[in-house]
Amino acid sequence: MSAPWLPSPRPLGRPIPHGLVATQPSLVAAMTAGLGLTGGEHVLEIGTGYCYQTALLAQLAADVISVEIYPDIATAARRNLVRQGIANVQVITGDGTEGYPQSAPYDAVLVSAAHPDVPPPLIAQMREGGRLIQPIGPGGNEQVIAFERVRERLRQIRVLTAASVVRLRGRHGSPIRSGHPGLTDAATATRLHLESWCRRRRMPARTVQ
Ligand SMILES: C[S@@+](CC[C@H](N)C(=O)[O-])C[C@H]1O[C@@H](n2cnc3c(N)ncnc32)[C@H](O)[C@@H]1O
Repeated sequence: MSAPWLPSPRPLGRPIPHGLVATQPSLVAAMTAGLGLTGGEHVLEIGTGYCYQTALLAQLAADVISVEIYPDIATAARRNLVRQGIANVQVITGDGTEGYPQSAPYDAVLVSAAHPDVPPPLIAQMREGGRLIQPIGPGGNEQVIAFERVRERLRQIRVLTAASVVRLRGRHGSPIRSGHPGLTDAATATRLHLESWCRRRRMPARTVQ
């Protein structure tokens, strides 16, 4: 498929392994701004990738715990952070849908992969009044939503933007499949993104396979 006029989710620099795509910069900016950080926050990020967004969060908050499910990606992210001299981030290898209770509570939580629901452990690990941003949807066609924790529940504050994001995997996400689950994800995300882009402009999306 070749469609240079499309705002596609292109990888930043080198592609992420497992067929995953880096978040497009405009979406990184919208999600980061949506947290409303003021400099003193303790932040939990789920889905480190190559840590582009992590590095921004580290500049805007006191410290960041970032959880990545793929060990090789987490290793590359740690290396990138050292190379940039960023010392207030801890990259954890694991299933981010479980959060990271050892360092809870968090003032702000950013989930960079999509799922129809917010994983319950993330809500439990937020402090009262804390903010959480997550793309809500099946993976490939979502609404990025800002929430606030109020009395042990999440209250929706607003929809930040529409987006096309890979699936959140794990115990409280989509099943982790054998083979190359991320490759299927990225291809599906791109197709759904194109379809929704065409739909918004009332254009036929017949070229999409
Ligand atoms: C869109 S990419 C993240 C991009 C990154 N934030 C950036 O700035 O480019 C989504 C990431 O979420 C990770 N991921 C998916 N499910 C996860 C889970 N349960 N726990 C931790 N990471 C997960 C993927 O491996 C991938 O690296």
